[in-house]
Amino acid sequence: MPAADAFYITTPIYYVNDTPHLGHAYTTVAADVITRYQRLKGRHAYFLTGTDEHGQKVLDAATKRGISPQAHADELSVPFRELWERLDIQHDDFIRTTEPRHTELVQSILQRLFDNGDIYDDTYEGWYSTSEERFWTEKDLVDGKCPASGNPVEWISEKNYFFRMSKYAPHLAAWMEAHPDFIRPTSRRNEVLGAMKKGVGDLCITRPKSRLSWGIEIPWDSEYVTYVWFDALINYITGIGYGTDPAMFERHWPATYHLVGKDILTTHSIYWSTMLFAMGLSPAECLYAHGWWTVEGRKMGKSTGNAVSPHLLIDSYGTDAVRYFLMREIAFGADGDFSHQAFLLRYNAELANDLGNLVHRSLSMTAKWLGGVVPPLGELNADDHVLMDLAADVVKRFDAAICNLHYKEALGALMELAGAGNKYVDTQEPWALNRDGNTARLGTVMRLVLELCRLSGTLLLPFCPTKAAVLLSRLGAETPLLSDENLPTVAGLDQLTEGGALLVEDPLFPRMTELPESIQQVLAELAASEADSAATATPSPDAPAPAAPSSAAPSSAAPSSDSDMIEFDDFTKVHFRSGRVVEAETHPNADRLLVLKVDVGEESPRTVVAGIANKYAPEDLVGKTVVVVVNLKPAKLRGIVSEGMLLAAGGGEVKGLVTVDPAVEPGEIVR
Ligand code: ME8
Ligand code: MG
Repeated sequence: MPAADAFYITTPIYYVNDTPHLGHAYTTVAADVITRYQRLKGRHAYFLTGTDEHGQKVLDAATKRGISPQAHADELSVPFRELWERLDIQHDDFIRTTEPRHTELVQSILQRLFDNGDIYDDTYEGWYSTSEERFWTEKDLVDGKCPASGNPVEWISEKNYFFRMSKYAPHLAAWMEAHPDFIRPTSRRNEVLGAMKKGVGDLCITRPKSRLSWGIEIPWDSEYVTYVWFDALINYITGIGYGTDPAMFERHWPATYHLVGKDILTTHSIYWSTMLFAMGLSPAECLYAHGWWTVEGRKMGKSTGNAVSPHLLIDSYGTDAVRYFLMREIAFGADGDFSHQAFLLRYNAELANDLGNLVHRSLSMTAKWLGGVVPPLGELNADDHVLMDLAADVVKRFDAAICNLHYKEALGALMELAGAGNKYVDTQEPWALNRDGNTARLGTVMRLVLELCRLSGTLLLPFCPTKAAVLLSRLGAETPLLSDENLPTVAGLDQLTEGGALLVEDPLFPRMTELPESIQQVLAELAASEADSAATATPSPDAPAPAAPSSAAPSSAAPSSDSDMIEFDDFTKVHFRSGRVVEAETHPNADRLLVLKVDVGEESPRTVVAGIANKYAPEDLVGKTVVVVVNLKPAKLRGIVSEGMLLAAGGGEVKGLVTVDPAVEPGEIVR
């Protein structure tokens, strides 16, 4: 059993096949925020992160660079540590799976499970995906390709070693039943339960060296290395001294939280738990699988990834603002989209305005009218009590939310406090109190808002450690203990030292009127390179399956040149064909509309209702070769179903149809 005040949290150990991006930063910041909060609560928090350095992906990356995988891993694990430093991550240990402490433990666990009979050899046959490093069954494949990556798979038949995962599946089912909070959020738990219902087989945990040499050698068979996941997952216990430091291990295991992205839920819930059962250990208290960030509506990839390099954001806004945004923008567990506009909006609205204003006006008014020292609290009125009750309630909600990893909600509560403080200033009108010489009431009002600043700064500590500490120091406040017993005291609006000096200085989060120049530049480069590749791309003749046109619409992000850009793939979702107008008549129920029959190379012509009566008489149209959107969902227009749309120039009123050289036959693809 872990010590009562112990808190052990892990992030995934990230592959060193590439440098870290915003997704890696996200999980790591989330782990850091809750770790810092637990430390503020007085608990002994232990935070482990690191890098996953074996396996095919890493070997491929090294081979591409023409260096040894070890040299590659040595180099690429550095940018992770550097980024964590820039993001103010306070991990206790950074584990690398190529370290002897880890490889030795993995080997000893393998040997033990082999000796126990939990590992056996067999011939394996199946479809293998190199990019996903796993086998798939025939029915898993999508169009004969890897369902996860879309990459080709190859049929492989070879001897391998297997872990008797199936033997521990019933135990896992019972465990999940008895621990409803083991996998969170609940939707993810249901996913795992669903996957388990389909059956849990044994796990192939080796790769012959002839196929993959970069891994931990199987202790009893030097022709094999360990499957990278069997190796990687063990890091969570290597890091706390399993097998070498029993006291430390006892103190920390089971982990309080494994934070992971939803991409690696199966490996953590099913593989890892059954591995632990085989070792006679319990799983972590909670496996929390958060959602995925996309970038400006797109999957995070090489080019988009660069556009939101954590370093670019840190350079532009500072570490604390980046941490704040990541935790505030999307609910932990849900997917979400990163956009630079959204970042700027939230930065300005919440950090610069709501919180920044409260701090600035509280400090500067007190400096101007009350000598820049913490004023005494006078008699309290009903408004003051409302504010105090709100503060107490916010602190309770904040604490519950953050302890449950509901970061967005916690920060929402914090912002409520800032909002209430600003409103309080507006309604109490300290400027009027000053004008009227009502110094006692002025002092009370300013004291209460200064206390709100202190409370905001305190709650902000785990999210924005540097700025929050600066804020507290300007108020002459200490970092308090946030233990359960102490929390109500901290929430009280009477904690500052009366007569203590206040410092008025530059805003903590200065307002930004537009996107920082460095970001504008990167976005412009990205847009240019994408326009370029779209123009030169050779479109495949068999375009992807038609999607509903609505899905091709630009995302609802704030309008800006960058978020209006679409991918070439988006463009190919709209299917244009040449069409010949074979009949045309006026619409019986609408003056504006004409009803056309258009031959688009199909068995019979399509009915197309077009709003072009202002420009064309029906007889003008017959025989024209036009451009038709043929995969628009049919829509009824004044009682007649239209099965396509004609392209025309003119934004509102039609100025003229787009026509094609009459020599072109109906039904040709138009791009
Ligand atoms: O999977 N949005 O490493 P990895 C949110 N080595 N989080 C994201 C993200 C995104 N778009 N992209 C990545 C591995 N992440 C294994 C793990 S653990 C024993 C071994 C985060 O480098 C998220 O936490 O592919 C995800 O699970 C992890 O990075 C994957 O990192
Ligand atoms: Mg991955």
